[in-house]
Order: sequence, then structure tokens, then C-alpha cells
Amino acid sequence: MSNSIFLLWLLSIPLAIHANPSPSVHIKHNWTEIVLKKSRVPYIDDIILNFQKHSRINKEQTDLTSTDIHLGNYLINCGSNEDLQEGLLTYVPDDNFISTGKKTTLNRTDILPRLQTLRYFPNANARKYCYSFPVIKEGKYLVKTIYYYGGFDGGNEPPVFDQIIDGTKWSIVNTTEDYASGGSSYYEAIVVAQNKFLSVCLARNQHTSAGSSPFISSIEVYHLDGSVYNSTKLENSMLMTVARNVFGSEGDIIRHISNEHEISFPDDNFNRFWHPFKDDNPFVSSHSNVTPSRFWNIPPQKALASAITTSRGKNITIQWPQFPLSNGLYYIALYFQDTRTPSPYSWRVFDINVNGQKFYENVNVTDSGQSVVPVGPLINAGEILQILPFGEKTVTRDVVAMEELRKGLTNPPEDWAGDPCLPRENSWTGVSCSREDPFRVLSL
Ligand SMILES: *[C@@H]1O[C@H](CO)[C@@H](O)[C@H](O)[C@H]1NC(C)=O
Ligand SMILES: *[C@@H]1O[C@H](CO)[C@@H](O)[C@H](O)[C@H]1NC(C)=O
Ligand SMILES: *[C@@H]1O[C@H](CO)[C@@H](O)[C@H](O)[C@H]1NC(C)=O
Ligand SMILES: *[C@@H]1O[C@H](CO)[C@@H](O)[C@H](O)[C@H]1NC(C)=O
Ligand SMILES: *[C@@H]1O[C@H](CO)[C@@H](O)[C@H](O)[C@H]1NC(C)=O
Ligand SMILES: *[C@@H]1O[C@H](CO)[C@@H](O)[C@H](O)[C@H]1NC(C)=O
Repeated sequence: MSNSIFLLWLLSIPLAIHANPSPSVHIKHNWTEIVLKKSRVPYIDDIILNFQKHSRINKEQTDLTSTDIHLGNYLINCGSNEDLQEGLLTYVPDDNFISTGKKTTLNRTDILPRLQTLRYFPNANARKYCYSFPVIKEGKYLVKTIYYYGGFDGGNEPPVFDQIIDGTKWSIVNTTEDYASGGSSYYEAIVVAQNKFLSVCLARNQHTSAGSSPFISSIEVYHLDGSVYNSTKLENSMLMTVARNVFGSEGDIIRHISNEHEISFPDDNFNRFWHPFKDDNPFVSSHSNVTPSRFWNIPPQKALASAITTSRGKNITIQWPQFPLSNGLYYIALYFQDTRTPSPYSWRVFDINVNGQKFYENVNVTDSGQSVVPVGPLINAGEILQILPFGEKTVTRDVVAMEELRKGLTNPPEDWAGDPCLPRENSWTGVSCSREDPFRVLSL
């Protein structure tokens, strides 16, 4: 194969739709139809398509697995006192990034070392507890937070609380179900940094029971290459990962971080988790070994190594993801690559529909060459990320002034970190702000 000049067609089709609960992917005939099946909502309001161009890629290109993690990424083992080596990654203590909270160690050795320590926040008067990471302003970052309760406070149920990025409430942290089934929980978001610091904060909410403390086990912040998730405008929104699957791969879909079937670093440059997804549909593994660096989202090579497929003339229906989605706007990226040994004599062409609406016609996933034998449709991998409004912030000069003020104080209030005014219910204690854009500090 050394002189091979086979060119394979790769394509990834991101789109944003008003998704409905319980979507499924539906693949048909010698076209592929992906239907996000509606259950509770009877129609789709809108479909926004953002197609990536078909990318031609040389099979001989080197693979991605040797790529190092970028400098300037942060891998944090919260509550620990020393560096921790986990595979090829080094997690550092969190002291340099936060000035509040307490450290504790779970008295167990049967869990991942990174989960054995955590930081918790007992001060019920503080309105938020913030980590702050130096970043490149307007740089794109993947933020992953990991939680494992472990009964650190002597209780049986993990506390429920909020997490915040910069001035925007990201989501509720509810690890109850995962903890009950013996697992940790993670949340992942893609954001564009508003300032030279990116803050990741926890805060109590109305569900946080009195006497319990928000806590966190680990944080990862990765700087993303420009092309990754770039088909969505991120100036005013963030992406929250909902599902990321490798179709046709072995294993259970579980949200534990130590599943041998999951793909993450070093296969994935940004340590994204790709969960195996298998159902009753026929599946195949790849014979070609193509490099996916031309996919804008840079999926790991292993994510393309299997596929759900069927023979010519058949439809496939996949329920994906296997849990209900809330109403909202979603970004979906689908990855296709012909799994057969490269040969110039066959191709796959199919249409893709979402909830019965055609959104892509004549997807041609093929080796180059003569079109002789049309074969059945296939799909290798996919991602669903929810699009959330993002980016309200206090005007920069007020933030700078408040930071200066804080630096001059010997004992600043615990919640004087992150955005001074936002989210509104998590503004700095004692600071009053204007109630609409532009958000300014009015008085102290
Ligand atoms: C489906 O396959 C048949 C041949 O089996 C071909 O004539 C037809 O054009 C194909 N349809 C599409 C949409 O590619
Ligand atoms: C830690 O575990 C050991 C053995 O199970 C037990 O003897 C000890 O009391 C535990 N310590 C704490 C602080 O829970
Ligand atoms: C947290 O999750 C549990 C288990 O899924 C659920 O019963 C509970 O209502 C949730 N709490 C909140 C505040 O959402
Ligand atoms: C996304 O990145 C790719 C590769 O760098 C580039 O060709 C494309 O124009 C970018 N798309 C957008 C919408 O910025
Ligand atoms: C595949 O799905 C299409 C569209 O729903 C339908 O028209 C066709 O009859 C199906 N084909 C088979 C073989 O089930
Ligand atoms: C699919 O692509 C191959 C290779 O470029 C081409 O020969 C074939 O005609 C295409 N098929 C369709 C239906 O567009």
C-alpha cells in the first residue's frame, strides 16, 4: 500500500435543528435517512443547515495519535496536594486557580485516583465559588467538569447545585443517579472566552439542601483548534455536549470515565469521550485506516473504525441518543467514512432526513474511482450538542476595576471571583449592578 494514492471521501454534516424529545436516526435504502423521530412535539419549527464540504483526504497522511496536548490546557485534580499522572496526562492541584473552599480526600482506593480528592464549598453565604483560568481572549475552549460525591460529607445523597461559566449559568449539577449506580458524572461545554480569564464556578441553588456543600473532583480546559465546532457561531452561544457516540462499537453506554470501550485521549486530541453505541442493527468494522484530520471537528481515528450499516435496498432505524432530549436548539455532527477496503469500484449514496424532513441529499461516501456497485448506507459516528445562549458579561473596565479593588483587600469576600454582576443571582456580595445590558457595577 505504500504507494497508494487512494483518496477516500470523508464528510461530516453538522446541523442545528429544533430537536424533539426521543430522537432517532433512521437510515434507508441506498440513501441514508436520519430521522429524529418526534414523540411529544408534533413538528419541527425550523432546520438550520450548516454543511461541511466534502473533504478529500489522502490515505497516506500520518495519524493524529502522536499529537501532544496543547500547551496552555489545564488538567486539574481538585482538592489534591500533588501532581497525578493518569495515562499520558498529568493532573495538577487546583490551589493556583481558586482561593476558596476546602480540600478533602475520600477514604477509598477502589476508584480512579483523580476522584479520590475533591474540593467542597461549605460557606453558605457566598454566592458562587469560582475557578479562574488564564486564557486567550476569544479563544475557543472545551471545558469538562467531573464530579464524584463519594459521601465525602458523611451523607448518602450528593448535593444538587449550579455550574457557571463566566457570566452564564451553564447547568444544574445533579449527580444523584450516576452516584447511585456507582459512577462519576461529567459535563462538557464548548465556549469562546470573553476575557483573558475563563471562570468556572459552582453555586448553590434552590435545590441545594441546607448543610450540604457543592463540590468538584476535576476540571479540564482544552484550547480547541479553530476548525473544531466552527460551523456554529459561538459569539452569543455555547455548546453543551449531550451525546457523542461511535456507532457499531462494542460495549455499554455508560457515563463512567473508566470504560475500556470508550475512546478518549490520546486517540482524541481534546480528551473528548466517545461512547460506544450498538443496537440491533448490523454493524461492521473498518478495513481502511483513514486519518480524520480533515473533518473540521477532528474526531479520533478510532471513532471511524466501526459503523452501523445494512445491505443495499434496506432502511436502518437507530434510536439515538437512547434518552430523551429536552426541547431546544441542537447542533448535530454526523461522521461517515466508507468502511470497506479501498476499492475504486463501489460507492454509497444516500439521503439524510431529520424527523421526516430531508436535510441532505445524495451524500456520497465512497472511495474514488468508477461508480460501479452501489452499496448500502452506513454511519460511523455522531455528536449532539445543545446550543445555549452565552456571553452576557459585565463591561470589561468595571471588571478590571473590581479585580483591582479585590487585590487591595486582605480578606475579600469568598465570592469575589468570576463575573462581578452575572449571573444576576450570583453577583459578588455587596456589589449592585445595572439590571440590563450594558451590565455595569453601580455601587458597593
Ligand atoms: C439507488 O440505486 C439504484 C440502483 O440500485 C440507482 O439506480 C439509483 O439512482 C440510486 N438512488 C440514489 C438516490 O442514489
Ligand atoms: C478509612 O477507612 C478505614 C478502613 O476502612 C477506616 O478504618 C477509617 O476509619 C476510615 N477513615 C475515615 C476518615 O473515614
Ligand atoms: C436529581 O436527579 C434525581 C435522580 O435522577 C432526581 O430524582 C431529582 O429530582 C433531581 N433533582 C433535581 C433538583 O433536579
Ligand atoms: C471552519 O474551519 C475550516 C477549516 O479550517 C474552514 O475551511 C472553514 O471555512 C471554517 N468554517 C467557518 C464557518 O468558519
Ligand atoms: C425506506 O424508507 C422510505 C422512506 O420512509 C420508504 O419510502 C421505503 O419504503 C422504505 N424502504 C424499505 C425497504 O423499508
Ligand atoms: C459518487 O462518487 C463517485 C466518486 O467520485 C462517483 O464516481 C459517483 O458517480 C458518485 N455517485 C453519485 C450517485 O453521485
